[in-house]
Amino acid sequence: MSLLRKKNVQDMLDFSKTTQALKKELGVFDLTMLGIGAIIGTGIFVLTGTGALIAGPGLMLSFVIGALACGFAALCYAEFASMLPVSGSTYTYAYATLGELIAWIIGWDLLLEYLLASSTVTVGWSGYFQNLIASFGLHLPEALTGAYGARPGVASFFNLPAFLIAMGVTALLAFGIKESKRVNNIMVVIKVSVVLLFIALGVWHVKPINWQPMLPYGLNGVFHGAAVVFFSFLGFDAVTCAAEEVKNPERDLPRAVILSLGICSVLYVIVAAIMTGIVHYPDFAGIDHPVSKALEVAGLNWVAGLVNIGAILGMTTVILVMTYGQTRITFAMSRDGLLPKVFSEVHPKYRTPYRATWIIGTIIAILGALVPLGTLAELANIGTLAAFSLISIAVIVLRKREPNLPRKFHCPGVPYIPALAIAFCVFLMVQLASLTWYCFVIWLLIGLVVYFGYARSRSLLASQGAV
Ligand code: ALA
Repeated sequence: MSLLRKKNVQDMLDFSKTTQALKKELGVFDLTMLGIGAIIGTGIFVLTGTGALIAGPGLMLSFVIGALACGFAALCYAEFASMLPVSGSTYTYAYATLGELIAWIIGWDLLLEYLLASSTVTVGWSGYFQNLIASFGLHLPEALTGAYGARPGVASFFNLPAFLIAMGVTALLAFGIKESKRVNNIMVVIKVSVVLLFIALGVWHVKPINWQPMLPYGLNGVFHGAAVVFFSFLGFDAVTCAAEEVKNPERDLPRAVILSLGICSVLYVIVAAIMTGIVHYPDFAGIDHPVSKALEVAGLNWVAGLVNIGAILGMTTVILVMTYGQTRITFAMSRDGLLPKVFSEVHPKYRTPYRATWIIGTIIAILGALVPLGTLAELANIGTLAAFSLISIAVIVLRKREPNLPRKFHCPGVPYIPALAIAFCVFLMVQLASLTWYCFVIWLLIGLVVYFGYARSRSLLASQGAV
């Protein structure tokens, strides 16, 4: 039965206000910026090209499906966030409702999501960065341009730009949330402006003939495309990781989750429509920079240059927020005794979990430098979809078990909306490749070994005598 032991909600709220409290700096605007910072990145700037090859112009529908899946899940997240404004996101929510084992599995899934997503984005960042410096005639030594085997015909073995951006972001995060927030806000404004510029100028170059046929690979293409571009939406959940650093979390967290997801979804569908309207979808084959490619085809080369800079900044914020979210989840797991104490030590001056930040940042940097992570975006997706499904179940369970807990935000239509979230997420998981599933199962098995071999006996609840 100890697998089902749960944390007491009131204890969690009290605890977060005492000993190892983090600094409370963030409001709804900062949180929405944090969300957009995490959401718009590699998905829109790189994966849209892949998505167009899979779904054709139906890519816009793929984005609508991804947005619906995330939207339903976001409503569930928002209810929890308004009820349990403590660090750790989904992991913490599950600990209060579904018990320690499921909470552990979710935390373990989120590790997969954030570590791989951050590393993948550092690799995407590096590609754009190298393109940018190449336009000034600068080139890195071949050996330092990518992971071993990442680029056919190139003798690379270490992705130096990916390593350096991950370490730079880590230093910023270790230094303090206030400084990180400022940098994040500035970069988000720039990247959203670049996306808006693309829309405003690109729309005049759309040739509706390019949308024919709309669904060259049928609905299957649209669904598979949705499972791939789902990566574009990862990150809105990172907003909830910030709960303990928010001034008025019950009110601001749900608003920020829904606002950031809503804004990004609308932008994505429009961008997908314009891109596939300018470029005939087969022409995206082999293209790493689909958004700038569309602008080049439209003859807007100067805007393409700006988009490259926006993409670099955009991906920087994704790495920033994803790494940040990761440190806050391991912070919460460590505070509960499930991970070593080093992950929850707070710096006396900066009030950040600095050791955890350096450890995680270094792992992300090394993964990005040494592993070609292109297809691993799918693995990040499956971890996230699993976590979203579990949290939607938790909303239904908690409404029944604890109907009187104060909820500043109520997910509408329970149990139907959470059920829709589960259905969409499971459906998208099924679309993913079997290799992704194998890796996911192996990751879960490793997680179970760590849980039973380490975490279970060290859990704070165990030491308090909970069964
Ligand atoms: N949604 C994030 C991106 O697209 C992970 O880069």
